[in-house]
Amino acid sequence: MASLGVNIDHIANVRQARQTVEPDPVTMALLAELGGADGITIHLREDRRHIQERDLRLLRETVRTRLNLEMAATKEMLSIALKYHPDMVTLVPERREEVTTEGGLDVVSQQSELKTIIQNLHSESIPVSLFVDPISTQLETSSHVGADWVELHTGAYAEAAFGSQKYQLSRLVEASFRSKNLGLRVNAGHGLTYQNVEAVARIDGIEELNIGHTIIARSLAVGLKEAVHEMKELIKNPRNEECFGLSKFSIA
Ligand code: PXP
Repeated sequence: MASLGVNIDHIANVRQARQTVEPDPVTMALLAELGGADGITIHLREDRRHIQERDLRLLRETVRTRLNLEMAATKEMLSIALKYHPDMVTLVPERREEVTTEGGLDVVSQQSELKTIIQNLHSESIPVSLFVDPISTQLETSSHVGADWVELHTGAYAEAAFGSQKYQLSRLVEASFRSKNLGLRVNAGHGLTYQNVEAVARIDGIEELNIGHTIIARSLAVGLKEAVHEMKELIKNPRNEECFGLSKFSIA
């Protein structure tokens, strides 16, 4: 069963909308853990639009599961990661104008920069994941530059029209299989919801799903602890064995 990393950036979004102190992502992370989160994920952006360095510092002290820091592959962010020592760093592409992370990293065109950042993080025993689209060349290069994990971008699957969801799912299945063969560990995330998560939860080889927006949205209705619990249940017991013919693509 895949574990669940809960992305709490949107709690910080609400706080920053008023530039005040509530809601506090640090206290909400505790509720996510009580609901069954296996890890807490935050994205410290260059423009600090939601998560602040203060959140990272306090979460480093308080998170009892695992703290996954998403960040751009820059010198500034590298020094912050080395200072606070998260349990994992996930390198993501970042553009100031985007509403959220739009695509996977282009690992192929940034090989030497990524290699250097990964080596620096490894020198402090911080494992590194690269957020990539499910494309063979990106996976092969991720392995080549020394990544420990890839996080497969599930956005194309999540946004696909009904007729092409099965195809997008098969790309994720194949990418998980390919990554394993390359010696990479595999996470996945982006755009997953209570409606579309189950098929992804059934993919062999995926160890953790990183999910944010849908859980925080649901928490407005039922509370964060319950919203996390509901998502954990869907991942643990995904319905519909033949979801999009997934069993056909299964590796097991
Ligand atoms: N994984 C990565 C690398 C992300 O950038 C995000 C969004 O911050 C997520 C997972 C979670 O995406 P969502 O909020 O759509 O669940």
